[in-house]
Amino acid sequence: MKTIALISAVGGAGRTTITAELASLLRWHGHAPLAIECDPRGLLGFHFGLHEPVRQGLSNTADWAACGHRSDDGVLFVPWGEPGTRAARADIAMRMHEDPHWLRRLLQDVDLPGDAVALVDSAPWPSPFAEQALAAADLALVLLPSLPESCATLAPLRQALDEGGIARAYVVTRLQPGRQLHTDVSVLLRATLGDALLPYEVHEDAGVPEALARGECFCRSTPHSQTAHDLQGLASWVSGWLLNGARAGKGQAGGHVPRGVVAP
Ligand SMILES: Nc1ncnc2c1ncn2[C@@H]1O[C@H](COP(=O)(O)OP(=O)(O)OP(=O)(O)O)[C@@H](O)[C@H]1O
Ligand SMILES: [Mg+2]
Repeated sequence: MKTIALISAVGGAGRTTITAELASLLRWHGHAPLAIECDPRGLLGFHFGLHEPVRQGLSNTADWAACGHRSDDGVLFVPWGEPGTRAARADIAMRMHEDPHWLRRLLQDVDLPGDAVALVDSAPWPSPFAEQALAAADLALVLLPSLPESCATLAPLRQALDEGGIARAYVVTRLQPGRQLHTDVSVLLRATLGDALLPYEVHEDAGVPEALARGECFCRSTPHSQTAHDLQGLASWVSGWLLNGARAGKGQAGGHVPRGVVAP
C-alpha cells in the first residue's frame, strides 16, 4: 500500500476537499483508496455524506480499521472520531508527540491489498497531525492556495520535507484567474518550484462548498466544471504516480521519478 499525505502550511487550502474528491476519482480509475482523517476537527466524513460527527475513529480505538465507513461512491474512509473528554484529547496529543511513527505503524499493520492507496488528510503544517501524516507518507501532495501566505511559508515547509527525505509534488489551489494577485502568486510559485509544481491548478468554484453542504462528491455533481476538470487531471496524475512512479519511492535512488515529483 502507498500513502499520500495532503499537506499545506495554510488553512483552508482545500486538503479535506481534495482528499475526498481524489479518493472518489481514484476509485473510478480502478485503485483501492482509503481516505484517512488525521485532523481532530472531524470534517472528512461530511464530504462523504455523513450528517454528524462519528464517535469511533482513528483517534480512540485499537481496532481502528473496524471504524471504516463506505461512502455512496464506495470509498472507504476512516474518520478521526471524538476522543470525548479533555483528558482523552490530551492523551492522543501526547501519544502523537512521543511516537512520531504512530500513524505509519497503524497503516503498516492494516490488512489492505498491495495496490491500495491511503490518502491522509491532516491539520495544517506544522502540527503533530501533519507530522504524523508526513512520517507515514510515500508522497506529500503539497497544496498551495494562490495567496501570499503560500509563498511566505514555502521555504520552511520545503526544508522540513528535505530533512524528512519525503518525495513531494506541489499543486496550486483555489485559483481565481481574474484576480491579479492570484495569477502573480501562481507565476511566482512556478518560478520557484519549476516542474515540481504540477500543471493542474485547482480553480475556485462556488459549487465546491455547495456540494459539501449537500454531502455530495463535487466532481460527480458538477462534472463539466473547470474545477472538476482540474481535479480529474490531478487524479490522473496520482494514478500515473501509483502505477509507475511510486516504485521510485523512499530510498530507491535511480528509479524512474515521474515529472512533477521532487525525489527526496
Ligand atoms: N476549489 C475550491 N473552490 C471553492 N471553495 C473551495 C475550494 N476548495 C475548498 N473550498 C472550500 O473552502 C473551505 C475549506 O476547504 P477545505 O476544508 O477542503 O480546506 P482545508 O485545507 O482542509 O482547511 P482546514 O485548514 O480548515 O483543514 C471549505 O468550505 C471548502 O468547501
Ligand atoms: Mg481540512
